[in-house]
Amino acid sequence: MSRPYYIAGNWKMHKTRAEAAELARALVEGLKDGKHRYLVAPGFTLIETVAPILKGTNIRLGAQNCAPEEQGAHTGEVSVLQLKELGVQTIILGHSERRHVYSEDDALINRKVKLALAHGFEVILCVGEQLHEREGGIAEGICEGQTTKGLDGVAPGDLERVVIAYEPVWAIGTGKTATPEDADAIHASIRRVVGKLYGEAAGERMIIQYGGSVKGDNAARLMAKANIDGALVGGASLKAETFAPIAKFA
Ligand code: 13P
Repeated sequence: MSRPYYIAGNWKMHKTRAEAAELARALVEGLKDGKHRYLVAPGFTLIETVAPILKGTNIRLGAQNCAPEEQGAHTGEVSVLQLKELGVQTIILGHSERRHVYSEDDALINRKVKLALAHGFEVILCVGEQLHEREGGIAEGICEGQTTKGLDGVAPGDLERVVIAYEPVWAIGTGKTATPEDADAIHASIRRVVGKLYGEAAGERMIIQYGGSVKGDNAARLMAKANIDGALVGGASLKAETFAPIAKFA
């Protein structure tokens, strides 16, 4: 089964509007003949600046989070309705920084996943173990659990708008990358879980990105693995010169 490669840039809490516009324009130019699926997820205040630059190009517009409710008394949160209005197509949910810095649990992430899907968004559901969990030999179980709980109650018909990103917490922003073999093993176990929940064909169709210190010089080796279908890139997505080689890996 051949799945498309999907390369996403998570800009996290970086860039001003002028910088974001410059990067978005450089990516549009640099990736216009790219063969894979692309996405960038700028911070909330940058989305309105970046949206018209990406419109009609081969780069999708993402957001990095959303609130678990449509609207209401949620000081400091951003609603799916507000994101939709700006042209956001995809929402990254359950990122390890949301889980471990802002204490989001699987139940909260699952509510966000279902709300975003109900509003027609594509969702990138992030899963990944912490260092002590990897050292304790429970990485697979952690990722399988986060996948199962994140997808709880997601209708089979909505699953085609779900992408899973495996991001081992110890590899994010550290320069340490999982070996292609270790990453592939986790991806395979996530695929098996999706297969168990939704049927083998659905598991085979699921796009599973790897994230954690992906760079131009390791992207091709990771993506060569059978179960690695793309990348969710942090640091190296902040410059066109470092993102384009990943996005256009051969
Ligand atoms: P780095 O590529 O900076 O390790 O970040 C990965 C990540 O968290 C993407 O969401």
